[in-house]
Amino acid sequence: MRLKNKIALVTGGARGIGQAVSELFAGEGATVVILDVLPAGKQVARAITEGGGQAEFLEVSVTDKTALTKLMAGVHEKYGRIDILINNAGITRDRTAEKMSEAEWDAVVEVNLKGVFLCTQAVIPYMKAQGYGRIVSAASNVGLRGNYGQTNYAATKAGVIAMSKTWALELGKYGITANAVAPGFTRTDMTEQIPGEHLEAILQSIPLRQVAEPLDIAYGYLYLASDEARFVTGTCLTIDGGASR
Ligand SMILES: NC(=O)c1ccc[n+]([C@@H]2O[C@H](COP(=O)([O-])OP(=O)(O)OC[C@H]3O[C@@H](n4cnc5c(N)ncnc54)[C@H](O)[C@@H]3O)[C@@H](O)[C@H]2O)c1
Repeated sequence: MRLKNKIALVTGGARGIGQAVSELFAGEGATVVILDVLPAGKQVARAITEGGGQAEFLEVSVTDKTALTKLMAGVHEKYGRIDILINNAGITRDRTAEKMSEAEWDAVVEVNLKGVFLCTQAVIPYMKAQGYGRIVSAASNVGLRGNYGQTNYAATKAGVIAMSKTWALELGKYGITANAVAPGFTRTDMTEQIPGEHLEAILQSIPLRQVAEPLDIAYGYLYLASDEARFVTGTCLTIDGGASR
């Protein structure tokens, strides 16, 4: 078991990649706390518990600083530590730069960038005090190379990589690592709206000629959250079938 006795918070764990991370981490011995705005997180936690793992669901938005501060204090009081934070919650509001509304820009920045910052800020005191922490945040290969119709999203994902490098610098001396994962196109609710002809073009751009499944990405999170990655910080692990090689 690679995460035995670890307390792990997973934002956006109610479905998609976050659900796969939650299930994988619980299977590796972690106690998983799923944070999501979707009540479906409760079923994910219940299924983990019924399977013999440890999990609970707490309904919260990663954009709510007051609620997050209270929630982290409660989690710490209950379990005595917070070892791992997986900043996975994210949204898209795609439109070309010319047509993108200010509301679409703001919504994506609020969740994907500020949400990651707020969750990280809320766990730092606990990780610092215990001299141990693993912070792994969701970037995207779009943050490395841009993407048509994703000005807002690409900016936030590049920002996640830059924030992770900054936290590696600021927090390394406390035994805390900070890294990002940059998935390529992954089969989840987020990507199911992509029209067929578009999907074909995406497949042609991926050397492995497949899209990722959530578990392909979850294994990257597992490595960076484990003790095996104790000397890895400030990096971004791209998992995209070679698309941004
Ligand atoms: N699917 C892909 O192709 C892909 C590629 C690269 C990066 N990513 C990133 O991986 C992460 C997960 O993506 P996914 O495909 O599983 O998406 P998804 O839409 O299936 O799941 C995202 C989860 O985040 C939750 N969430 C959204 N806003 C929230 C908020 N304010 N507070 C708490 N939870 C919130 C949603 O309720 C949902 O459960 C995202 O950050 C996404 O940008 C996805």
